[in-house]
Amino acid sequence: MTGGPIICVTPNVALDRTLVVPDFAIGHISRIDRGVAVPGGKGLNTMRAVQILGGDALSMGLMGGNTGRMVATMVEEAGYRAVWTWFEGETRTCTIIATADGRSTVINESGRIQPQDWTALVDDICRVAVREAAYAVCVCGSLPTGAPDHAPADLVEKLRQTDVSVWVDTSKRALDNAIGAGPYAIKVNRDEIAAVMNIAADNCSELISAAKSLLARGIGLVVISLAEDGALLVSADLVAKATPPLIQPLDPVASGDCLHAGIVESLARGEDHLEALRRGVAAGTVNALYAGGGRFTFAHFQEILRRTTVEVLPN
Ligand SMILES: Nc1ncnc2c1ncn2[C@@H]1O[C@H](COP(=O)(O)OP(=O)(O)OP(=O)(O)O)[C@@H](O)[C@H]1O
Ligand SMILES: [Mg+2]
Repeated sequence: MTGGPIICVTPNVALDRTLVVPDFAIGHISRIDRGVAVPGGKGLNTMRAVQILGGDALSMGLMGGNTGRMVATMVEEAGYRAVWTWFEGETRTCTIIATADGRSTVINESGRIQPQDWTALVDDICRVAVREAAYAVCVCGSLPTGAPDHAPADLVEKLRQTDVSVWVDTSKRALDNAIGAGPYAIKVNRDEIAAVMNIAADNCSELISAAKSLLARGIGLVVISLAEDGALLVSADLVAKATPPLIQPLDPVASGDCLHAGIVESLARGEDHLEALRRGVAAGTVNALYAGGGRFTFAHFQEILRRTTVEVLPN
């Protein structure tokens, strides 16, 4: 293992545009009360959380057009390191319409690339990972429409020829593909692993058995997040569960990304799997107390960490 940055890859970056429209009605002209646009994407959430926790993160992903330039500028102005792979096309915009009743309507563009754009991203990630002696590459979130069928397995396979460990946090076919290529670790929530392994999401022992069958297929570490119940970590010699304190969540979206960040950042600083799991769960939980992904404070993380417990389960 190497001691360089944690590369957080967002294959499908977005500009997340939230419009606060109290009197929104379909077919009418609405006056916008407030609007805010921020860089969106799971790798960006993970990257921000790694930085808050004191780690060294580098963002990578595909960017296109004027929207891509705007998002890249926002990331740069916020002081984060990033290396983008530019494609002919436009970075997607995801629109969230917040109405007075407290509900949100979300309209997500899917993002569209050509197969060669994906190949360029894979080449860039491998080059940068070796150049930077990266500690890990974390592949976070969905793939854009147009990514080849063998993605992201091709990225996992290529990175396996290097010294860099690969973590995958995705779902559905992309997760299935990645599993087949044997990444070092996967981070899934219980619904994601249940869907891919065809098991019940609410049965802990079934989740652990499914994780063990993934170990038998060449994966080193499986982390399964359980929302307010914490998370499980399963490796060849350890089955463990971390439990967070009871909280009143404000916005748990992206808590999985922060759990992912917490575990990888902890391992990068040389801590063991048990402590990494505890830190990951504390990071996911503190994130749920803030609006947006990876926007918590380090002091608040430490306070939640003190109240997060971890136990070894029978293996
Ligand atoms: N309601 C909650 N109370 C306490 N902690 C929570 C809550 N929701 C999430 N968490 C914390 O965040 C971690 C990840 O949560 P979850 O299982 O919801 O991830 P996820 O579904 O992958 O989320 P996302 O994909 O939106 O990032 C949990 O392991 C836990 O530590
Ligand atoms: Mg998730």
